[in-house]
Amino acid sequence: MTLFEFDDLFVCPECGNRLTAEWSCQTCAKSFRQPDGIPDLRSAVDAQTDRVRKFYERSPFPGYPERDSVEWLRARAERSEFARMLDRAIPADATVIEVGCGTGQMSLYLAHASRRIVGADLSRASLRLALAASQRFGLERAVRFIQTDLHRPGLRNGAFDVVYSSGVLHHTPDPAAAFARVARLARPGGWIVVGLYNAFARIPLRVRRAIARLSRYRWTLFDPVLRDRTHEPARREAWLRDQYQHPTEHRHTLGEVQRWFAANDVEYVRAYPSALLFRGERRRVRQGLSIGSAFGRLRRALHTVRRLVGTGTMAGATFLDESPRPRGRHVRHGGEALRRAVG
Ligand SMILES: C[S@@+](CC[C@H](N)C(=O)[O-])C[C@H]1O[C@@H](n2cnc3c(N)ncnc32)[C@H](O)[C@@H]1O
Ligand SMILES: [Zn+2]
Repeated sequence: MTLFEFDDLFVCPECGNRLTAEWSCQTCAKSFRQPDGIPDLRSAVDAQTDRVRKFYERSPFPGYPERDSVEWLRARAERSEFARMLDRAIPADATVIEVGCGTGQMSLYLAHASRRIVGADLSRASLRLALAASQRFGLERAVRFIQTDLHRPGLRNGAFDVVYSSGVLHHTPDPAAAFARVARLARPGGWIVVGLYNAFARIPLRVRRAIARLSRYRWTLFDPVLRDRTHEPARREAWLRDQYQHPTEHRHTLGEVQRWFAANDVEYVRAYPSALLFRGERRRVRQGLSIGSAFGRLRRALHTVRRLVGTGTMAGATFLDESPRPRGRHVRHGGEALRRAVG
């Protein structure tokens, strides 16, 4: 891989300055290697982050089935209403960073039209699978994978129209600080989409996890993903470790995450699946409108929880945001489309 076409996006993780075409820093002269065609843009990481890295070196997440194809990737992604909405909402010419891309499925799914997509992760084992998939699917020119730590990323601040990070921040030592760091990657007027474990939606998994641990993993009751992956040992193991044995896991409420947005001067737009039920209800109450019967409300609440838990990938909320104050740079037409489609 060369810096060609993506050279404005990568920087030295030590000092934040530009790199030469040979992956050396133009300012501090530090040079970076790119074994296996994946640049290693890391500087020192803390011990807890390194534990998380090793965890995913052993079990890249989520991995690929034995027989796959670009059609499989698209069909698999499009089972998720959220993925379809996100893809529709991102402009054809957007520059997108996926922070913590794992084995790269979302980066590759979003890689069409004239988009530039960067998938960044700590785990080289995951990135190797991601790069190999991009080659199998003929997408290697549209997506670049790099190894970097989101705390000191080899990525230029303000360079991205869309910052997407799902299932990652809650595995960092200080998710609020991690959010603040990745938020800086978005250009003024850009969008930040984060997927996080929701404190309430995670309760059923925590019950299952307690039972699994007590039974030394003989009883992984009612886990539909583990059931589906009976004949795919590597992917089953990746799921089991990620969900049941993770060294660092936080859970968050909507209110907490909204405070992160406010603290970083990012306007909160919405959550998906809609966790705005109760907020919407509060607004209707203020406006003197009906919020329906208690039964209807309970049914809607149960429906929301079922969707959160039943996604089969991650029980969490996704937040879409836009920086409120474009600072003198051209805001592309895509911003409004994103707001309409996802907001
Ligand atoms: C649960 S996996 C999610 C992968 C992918 N986003 C998905 O939804 O399938 C979490 C990923 O975050 C990455 N990660 C965790 N901490 C990170 C950090 N500090 N910097 C970059 N990536 C990190 C891990 O290596 C892992 O691949
Ligand atoms: Zn430097």
